[in-house]
Amino acid sequence: MDLEMDADADIDSTEFSKYVVDRMQQLELKNDLLEKQYQKVETEKQLAEDQRLKYERELRKLRSELDKLKTTPQLVGTLVNVLDEGKSIVRSSTGPEFIVGSSQFIKDGDLKPGVQVALNKEHLSIVAVIPRSEDPLVQAMEVIESPDIDYDQIGGLDKQIEVLKGAVEFALTKPEIFERIGIDPPKGVLLFGPPGTGKTLLAKAVATRTDATFIRVVGSELVQKYIGEGARMVRDVFEMARKKAPAIIFIDELDSIGAVRLDDASSGGREVQRTLMQLLSEMDGFNSRGDVCILAATNRWDVLDPALIRPGRFDRLVYVPIPDREARVKILLIHTEKMRLADDVDFDRIATLTEDANGAALRAIVMEAGMCAVREEKDAVHQKDFEDAIKHIMNPEGMVDRYSEGMFA
Ligand SMILES: Nc1ncnc2c1ncn2[C@@H]1O[C@H](COP(=O)(O)OP(=O)(O)OP(=O)(O)O)[C@@H](O)[C@H]1O
Ligand SMILES: [Mg+2]
Repeated sequence: MDLEMDADADIDSTEFSKYVVDRMQQLELKNDLLEKQYQKVETEKQLAEDQRLKYERELRKLRSELDKLKTTPQLVGTLVNVLDEGKSIVRSSTGPEFIVGSSQFIKDGDLKPGVQVALNKEHLSIVAVIPRSEDPLVQAMEVIESPDIDYDQIGGLDKQIEVLKGAVEFALTKPEIFERIGIDPPKGVLLFGPPGTGKTLLAKAVATRTDATFIRVVGSELVQKYIGEGARMVRDVFEMARKKAPAIIFIDELDSIGAVRLDDASSGGREVQRTLMQLLSEMDGFNSRGDVCILAATNRWDVLDPALIRPGRFDRLVYVPIPDREARVKILLIHTEKMRLADDVDFDRIATLTEDANGAALRAIVMEAGMCAVREEKDAVHQKDFEDAIKHIMNPEGMVDRYSEGMFA
């Protein structure tokens, strides 16, 4: 009985160990397989890593090459059209058109016909898209969104202010009034009068009141060296005004382009004429719907070309005179507003002493009086300071003294 059981146990254990050996072999095989798979994945990973490094190196190389291309001088061109396979037609600033390639770092969406591009100097390929800016030619003009001068800072020019209000302010802010009455708002208003009487000031105040864009161009800056450039600037100014309407174009020192056309054959003279002609034609081509208004100022109205003041161009003329006594008092009050004044200051007397002084001179007198008080470390500005200042400013010899004092001290 015992023997039988032993034999049974023997069979069991041999069978079991056979099974274990089998199982082990199986597992070993599987392990080998997995090992191989792992190895394969590992090499693939290595390969990918190598490739990545290679690409990175290539990218660095290309970037440095691009930087190099960018540092050499580049031409400016305009993109005319985009062709297939990364080719584009550009017009270089000198005129001719070229078919060129473009840097792969430029996004396709950025290349639109009409944009300005930088071109490599040697092979003219597009290396960058230049961000859009206002035309460089328009740099001579100054755009003041809204200056901060108001009518109450202008003394003694109430009548002029009324006229400007009617002609410019209402034209820009209430065009319906003109429509109701059935007339066109005036196209242009010319402020004329002696120097320093507040013409520029008036123009700025109008701009403040209307919330219009105020584009100030100085006539002399429109007189350019190169042929056609002045005329182009005039065109640009009008174009910009239309874009930013409601707008006021203010041409200060109009006489420098609007002087009567002399029969002078010098190229400079001809260029000034060309600029003036452009201005005249821009003004003619303007329908005065009222959203753009043209203001101009000059202190040399005697030399202005009559064509400019023909109706339909500058059809409102506003004379800005030298201030009379009453106006002088008002101007003095404006400029001394923030000053600490002694009780003895008598503006009537100061106004009497400043016969023929313009607004700018009165302002200079106030400043000078203030400086006197500062020099003598006073608490307030006295009448005597004003009278000394008047002597200084009104009397040319006093001016010589003052300047030589400053220059050779
Ligand atoms: N009526 C005035 N009221 C107050 N300040 C004035 C007046 N007129 C002139 N001024 C002062 O004089 C300065 C110069 O004036 P403004 O520039 O307007 O003169 P302008 O008439 O344009 O002279 P120009 O013909 O020489 O260009 C102003 O900044 C202002 O301080
Ligand atoms: Mg002026």
